[in-house]
Amino acid sequence: MAYEMIEVRTEAEKVGIITLNRPKQLNALNDQLMNELGAALKAFDADEKIGCMIITGSEKAFAAGADIAAMAKYSFADAYKGDYITRNWEAIRSVRKPVIAAVSGFALGGGCELAMMCDFIIAADNAKFGQPEIKLGVIPGAGGTQRLPRAVGKSKAMDMALTGRMMDATEAERSGLVSRVVPYDKLMDEALGAALIISDFSQVAVMAAKESVNRAFEGTLADGVMFERRLFHALFATADQKEGMDAFLGKRKATFQHQ
Ligand code: HXC
Repeated sequence: MAYEMIEVRTEAEKVGIITLNRPKQLNALNDQLMNELGAALKAFDADEKIGCMIITGSEKAFAAGADIAAMAKYSFADAYKGDYITRNWEAIRSVRKPVIAAVSGFALGGGCELAMMCDFIIAADNAKFGQPEIKLGVIPGAGGTQRLPRAVGKSKAMDMALTGRMMDATEAERSGLVSRVVPYDKLMDEALGAALIISDFSQVAVMAAKESVNRAFEGTLADGVMFERRLFHALFATADQKEGMDAFLGKRKATFQHQ
């Protein structure tokens, strides 16, 4: 598939990198872009060689939100019957390999929500996060009111959603929204470094870890702990577990076959 609104490349044949590319609109997220992003993520997810993906934007904007020009005239019926958001945002959630958001500049509205749908966020020091939908007479629609409080707690999430203010990279790291902050010129190196580390681990174990951490947000603690325990047990059926533990005991580096 030829892409117009994203750029896609691989690194070392094991990391898939997707760059959002609508610079004039600060990477505002319209249907075409979201369709392309979903297709690219699915293709990488299905590629045996790829172990991890990175989504990034430009220096000025990761994404300044859903495309306001595209949705300004929607009626309720347009949004509801057309299944706006669900129709092309859900693909991201079904990706089973890890996805890192490498965020520089604005990550606002749907841009912040897209970053939060990724498995973790590495931010450049110029990153700005926000859910400014309230200023447009709406509210977040791609999970912002649900993922932001889980990431930063109720008080800060309410503050962000009700005032529409932005949070800078330092505040975002302090509050747990992002895992690391680095200078802008180190952003891709940092994200790529993490992605390469992940890609060399057992894909089976990596996917199980992602699934299990995500489970922490979906049920009770007791359910989550049991889910984790069963996946942990199941991993003893993999060749990668034998390799990982044999390598440790033999004082050598493990080479995983992803089986
Ligand atoms: C469409 C957008 C846009 C957006 C920016 N642009 N954000 N177009 N949708 N979300 C366009 C501008 O209209 C402008 O086009 C060009 O990008 C550059 O933007 P400027 O505003 O001139 O840049 P600047 O002054 O640097 O301000 C940057 C900014 C501001 C602070 C990020 O653009 C801004 O506030 N954008 C809107 C942010 C927002 O409200 N996001 C939430 C959207 S609602 P022209 O043609 O004039 O050059 C949402 C709902 C999510 O995301 C629901 C689930 C998906």
